[in-house]
Amino acid sequence: MLIKNICCIGAGYVGGPTMAVIAKNNPNINVTIVDINAERIAAWNDTNLDNLPIYEPGLADIVKETRGKNLFFSTNIDKAIDESEMIFISVNTPTKTYGKGKGMAADLKYIELCARNIADVATTDKIVVEKSTLPVRTAEAIKSILHNTGNGINFSILSNPEFLAEGTAISDLLQPDRVLIGGESTDAINSLSKIYEAWVPKSQILTTNLWSSELSKLTANAFLAQRVSSINAISELCEHTGANVNEVAKAIGMDSRIGPKFLNASIGFGGSCFQKDILNLVYIARSYNLTEVADYWEQVIIMNDHQKRRFSDRLIKTLYNTVSGKKIAMLGWAFKKDTNDTRESAAIYVADHLLNEQANIAVYDPKVPYVKMQSDLNYLNTRTEEDNAQGLKASKTPYEALEGAHAIAIMTEWDEFKTYDWKKVYESMKKPAFVFDGRNILDEKEMKSIGFDYFAIGR
Ligand code: NAD
Ligand code: UGA
Repeated sequence: MLIKNICCIGAGYVGGPTMAVIAKNNPNINVTIVDINAERIAAWNDTNLDNLPIYEPGLADIVKETRGKNLFFSTNIDKAIDESEMIFISVNTPTKTYGKGKGMAADLKYIELCARNIADVATTDKIVVEKSTLPVRTAEAIKSILHNTGNGINFSILSNPEFLAEGTAISDLLQPDRVLIGGESTDAINSLSKIYEAWVPKSQILTTNLWSSELSKLTANAFLAQRVSSINAISELCEHTGANVNEVAKAIGMDSRIGPKFLNASIGFGGSCFQKDILNLVYIARSYNLTEVADYWEQVIIMNDHQKRRFSDRLIKTLYNTVSGKKIAMLGWAFKKDTNDTRESAAIYVADHLLNEQANIAVYDPKVPYVKMQSDLNYLNTRTEEDNAQGLKASKTPYEALEGAHAIAIMTEWDEFKTYDWKKVYESMKKPAFVFDGRNILDEKEMKSIGFDYFAIGR
């Protein structure tokens, strides 16, 4: 099928950057991104590119180049569906918070709504592409909804999971390790492949059956998260034995079978997908009665929760077993650097533990506004909104957050944290001045020579 118009349902962290890159590389295709969230669409259409709803290095430049030419943002979902030959479904698939599978299974209500919406308004044949991360065999349900419309329209379903990481989304999209397309119709696969071939070498475009493609996405995230939990498990052993986790990571990473990437010990992985996707994998395994498989992957999450908890426990223990009334400066709230996304950020959980111990927290993050920090905390429902607002304040500058603090907790690896005048910070703090480097980004020798009591993960 010749594709002239693409519709993408969902203008989020995946839909926005992915479609911007497709539009940039396919100037002859009109790409319309639609969303039910009118505020988000308005932000994507804002003339001031600083107001785009998503911060990603390089994204604003591509939006500037393509928006209004062949990239459009709209709330008119029906019109965009009807006018397109290819529809990407890129809506959120969060963990269920109710009913069967609560806390484990992916909530597919948004996916189903999209499928019903497409079935209702389509008047011509469509290729429907699953871009969202979905449980294996979801395409079966989408197919069933679409094929039961009875209006004679032909729908081809493809699975095309997205592998971008936030903070590096644009470079990941421009130079992907691979593009994965799963499907049954060779014609539909070729139509989608052609779009990617505009900038991705054909040898890196992999085609599989639908179920392999769906399962590969969950498996990739499970393997990546497993590496983080594996090195974090070793970090605890390092702290007890005098081994240094950075040295261990370097030593094992030089084995070409293991490789050097994704071995940074940390306060634990965050983000909207690792936990959600592993929980989903565990749920699927349990639904097939594969108890050992489910338990094996669940351990990755158990280790991650332990890592977050033991970071705050270590801080409290070191501060003479009490942080009550003490000022704790937190550097970073985002779940990793170069993004304004805070979903499942370890900082939220560490702040929650410290607030339980009546600490006064001052946070500085270069991209996350105070209202977001408060709504993240309120979402946990541990204490009243007033108590959260009382216990956690955001600072406009890092020095304001750090001044008079008993301890600093580094939660996100923002590059700017490495450039601070740490002597000046030391002088402004209560003594002894403690630093808990949850990202292992500062120079231990230098920090100790300034006078800090410096603690890092796995050392
Ligand atoms: P997101 O929450 O940022 O965006 C999803 C958007 O879909 C929201 O703006 C929401 O309003 C919209 N939406 C929901 N239902 C809709 C409907 N019926 N009609 C129109 N719009 C609707 O989510 P995201 O981070 O972009 O993730 C989307 C999917 O991609 C998820 O399945 C996720 O697992 C997967 N994924 C995410 C990443 C990532 O880095 N964030 C990477 C790879 C894959
Ligand atoms: C991750 C995957 O890397 C992407 O390939 C995938 O597309 C995406 O999930 C998704 O499906 O949503 P993302 O969560 O955006 O991307 O970011 P990562 O770079 O994977 O980091 C996830 C978390 O792990 C962060 O909190 C990060 O700080 C932490 N991490 C990562 C570590 O603690 N150590 C590491 O060595 C690497």
